[in-house]
Amino acid sequence: MGNPFNYLQFARGDQFYDRRDIREDLLSRFLSGQSNVVLYGPRRYGKSSLVAELTGDLEKAGIPCVTLDVVKVPSIDLFVSAYATKVYRRLAPVKFELRKLGTFLKSLRPKMTLDQTGEAGFSFEPSDEQIGAEALTEVLDLPQKLLSGKKRAVVVLDEFQEVKDLLPNDGFERVMRSAIQSHRNVSYIFLGSRYHMLRRMFTDHNRPFYKSAVTIHIDKPPVDESVRFVVDRFASAGKAIACETAERLVAKVENIPYFIQQLGFETFRLIDDARRKSVSPDDVDSAFANLSGFNRDQYEQLMLTLSVSQKKLLIALSRERTDEFGDAYRRRHALGVSSTVNSAKGKLMEDGHIEQSEGKYVVADPFFAQFLRFA
Ligand SMILES: Nc1ncnc2c1ncn2[C@@H]1O[C@H](COP(=O)(O)OP(=O)(O)O)[C@@H](O)[C@H]1O
Ligand SMILES: [Mg+2]
Repeated sequence: MGNPFNYLQFARGDQFYDRRDIREDLLSRFLSGQSNVVLYGPRRYGKSSLVAELTGDLEKAGIPCVTLDVVKVPSIDLFVSAYATKVYRRLAPVKFELRKLGTFLKSLRPKMTLDQTGEAGFSFEPSDEQIGAEALTEVLDLPQKLLSGKKRAVVVLDEFQEVKDLLPNDGFERVMRSAIQSHRNVSYIFLGSRYHMLRRMFTDHNRPFYKSAVTIHIDKPPVDESVRFVVDRFASAGKAIACETAERLVAKVENIPYFIQQLGFETFRLIDDARRKSVSPDDVDSAFANLSGFNRDQYEQLMLTLSVSQKKLLIALSRERTDEFGDAYRRRHALGVSSTVNSAKGKLMEDGHIEQSEGKYVVADPFFAQFLRFA
């Protein structure tokens, strides 16, 4: 019997728990018609997993979905090639003739490429001109153009905030906003983990995407659902864990789904190696210590990239979480003046190293917090 926890892939099927309401809400929105949604929340809370489940549901209901992770296409050329390829593969009718693509993409010359499995993909002939608004519009219009009649589709752009680096001066956002306004048959889901940045894109009235999508915030799952999940996963592999021990496991990792899977995985590995049938609280503690140690190299590397005030703030928060950085807190942890702390806090929040949990600032990664506690 394999390990019943999995943190390497998106959670799917019985590896996936909770999120029932939001999943149903999203499903009915996309089944019933056009609606664009922006889904934001901190990293590792399960946004991509949720959307993967959702697109699975939609595909079953006959609505084709195309998902692109913008982090993986860090230039406009890469974006355009990957987008056209994915859209073509999923949405082109079976008998679609490739040369018709030329009539949709007038200002770009698509060059067909074949991957190892013989599937078509595109690259675009390098031209002297940079890909600009016109060429990008054509590629963004592709899903709408490929769909005929009443047929509908959903396009998912993960880590969408990263598009701001693809063209200067909000160029990508402007072009995309005006293109998708006329897409009657396509709905869009935008999600991302730099969530302050993403939220600003949709709530700042100076930005092109202002009020263009329903914003949905994704929070941690309810604790009791997480606890039940842990108990069930162990049980599915023939191991027992007491409810209080499962609660301890969930609490140690701040009830964050990714870390629950990671700590569950390591705890299971420990007891399975020792050929034991049930989990003790000590097992959870040992697994937690192991994981903090496994990542040491990564944490040391990260520390080297941070400023002194950022490091000091992280260390302070690993020892004492707080809802505000008042005089007393700053003095206790020798943090210096308030303006320094605020700018360090802003940067750490933006990069996802700290986040707010129940109104208090905490180090986002509980294994990193553990690493920081011991100099
Ligand atoms: N609903 C869930 N049920 C079980 N595990 C989950 C769930 N959501 C997330 N996870 C775990 O957390 C990991 C990170 O989730 P992911 O969807 O990549 O988060 P995000 O996109 O918010 O950063 C997944 O690989 C999975 O192991
Ligand atoms: Mg994600």
